[in-house]
Amino acid sequence: MFYGFKKLKGIGDMLPLDVVIMAAGKGTRMKSKIPKVLHTLGGNALLGHVIQAAVAISARKIVVITGHESELVQNGALSLFKQACLQGEQSNPPPEIEFALQMPQLGTGHAIQQAMPHLTDDGLTLILSGDVPLTKLETLKCLIETSLENKQVNTTPSLALLTLQTANPFGYGRILRDTLQPQRVLGIVEEKDANPEQRLITEVYTGVLVAPTQYLRTWVNSLDNKNAQGEYYLTDVVTKAVDTGHAVKTLTIDNPLEVMGVNSPAQLAELERTLQLNTAQSLMEQGVRIKDPGRIDVRGTLNCAEDVEIDINAVFIGSVTLGRGVRVGPNCVISNAQIEEGALIEAYTHIEGASIKTPVIIGANSRVGPFARLRPGAMLGTEVHVGNFVEIKNSTLASGAKANHLAYVGDAELGERVNFGAGAITANYDGANKHRTVIEHDVHVGSNSVLVAPLTIGASGTIGAGSTITKGSEPGALSITRAKQISIPNWSRPRKSEGKKSG
Ligand code: UD1
Ligand code: MG
Repeated sequence: MFYGFKKLKGIGDMLPLDVVIMAAGKGTRMKSKIPKVLHTLGGNALLGHVIQAAVAISARKIVVITGHESELVQNGALSLFKQACLQGEQSNPPPEIEFALQMPQLGTGHAIQQAMPHLTDDGLTLILSGDVPLTKLETLKCLIETSLENKQVNTTPSLALLTLQTANPFGYGRILRDTLQPQRVLGIVEEKDANPEQRLITEVYTGVLVAPTQYLRTWVNSLDNKNAQGEYYLTDVVTKAVDTGHAVKTLTIDNPLEVMGVNSPAQLAELERTLQLNTAQSLMEQGVRIKDPGRIDVRGTLNCAEDVEIDINAVFIGSVTLGRGVRVGPNCVISNAQIEEGALIEAYTHIEGASIKTPVIIGANSRVGPFARLRPGAMLGTEVHVGNFVEIKNSTLASGAKANHLAYVGDAELGERVNFGAGAITANYDGANKHRTVIEHDVHVGSNSVLVAPLTIGASGTIGAGSTITKGSEPGALSITRAKQISIPNWSRPRKSEGKKSG
């Protein structure tokens, strides 16, 4: 889209923004067949986080640079892009996405050279790395503003670098500043090219920059590879800008998490834990009581009302909403669910909504678990009880319905106050098609019954325990199919013959 955070004087107030994401590198240290940028962090691919940021910042176009496993990365990027657009603000038209192939990979500057034909000179380019997933949207916006501020002074946005102050600058490019005028940036020197004095510099380049596209094009086209690694360094655009009299600005942050890259499984795990701890922290700040912030995983978004309590080892996936006073017991896995006020989810419960748009719904004051399994399409009304070893799929349980032990409810509608007995099941599948079972309000389904769908059990009816029901029944009826009991008095059980061993 168009950027004009402030009323800026100069060559037009608004500038379109294009985002380039570098994702051609091999990721050797991951030792994995899966391309590095497709490994997941907080339930989303590394590249997914970056694409999400590009969509959220209202880019006009996103250009992803691929190289290693380009087909896999491109397909992955396309589906992550669709996902990001679905989740993004509806008010923004989605950006375009294009791909630039970089073969072979001759450095970050060479990567950007491949992206240039996809970019037009009328705007700004924001450069991001596919393996740096946690840069905050606010930070990126500030960096763009930093670039645009210069437009007021001299009609051209500046080259703006995101830098980090860190006690451990090892491995990063160091920011070189004019000793007499420290606000003047002179260049970036890579770790491998730096002299011992330069290596002491604690301000480093994060890999994120914003530049006016027109000038970026001339700068990257004039790069050379005369350096310690024989690569075309993108970071050399800084001296190109300085040499041609362009302003170079910096935005400095001090939170290393925002610019931490992933190179190895250990770094991925470290970043995952840090991300999860941060999420736990912000949930607790909102008032959520988490038993152990070191033992919670949110792989998506978790929205909580007040007085929510979460015990240890809960995993939340996709979009989960917990209403006021909801309690989640230990070791629950909950994905795409809307759990309403006062509901209790007991230990070891597994809840799996099909998608963000079609969550499992658990009504107010319901009690689910321990050891319950709610599959896609499960919709529970208020004060429903679902107990241990009960599986519910594509079914509605109206208020006050109960299935407390060892049951399967699939493709069914249970009316208010239905009691679905222990060991009862709906036989919803005839080997070819699925059929529905309708159980009207106040029905009692006896233990160990099989309800062979399709059928309707009329209101207030009763199914005798152990029955196999194949036909519907009228309201109020008792249906029973078990054989009549016979009792033989004084029955003597068979005995073992002499000399035989028991087997
Ligand atoms: C780069 C910066 C360094 C900075 C650091 C921050 C350069 C020369 N150096 O170094 O100053 O401190 O990032 O993390 O830019 N890539 C390609 N094609 C290539 C090479 C890399 O697409 O030919 C991609 C990688 O997949 C990765 C990103 O560019 O996503 C950064 O590359 P990487 O090799 O990690 O650069 P660094 O050496 O870390
Ligand atoms: Mg790197």
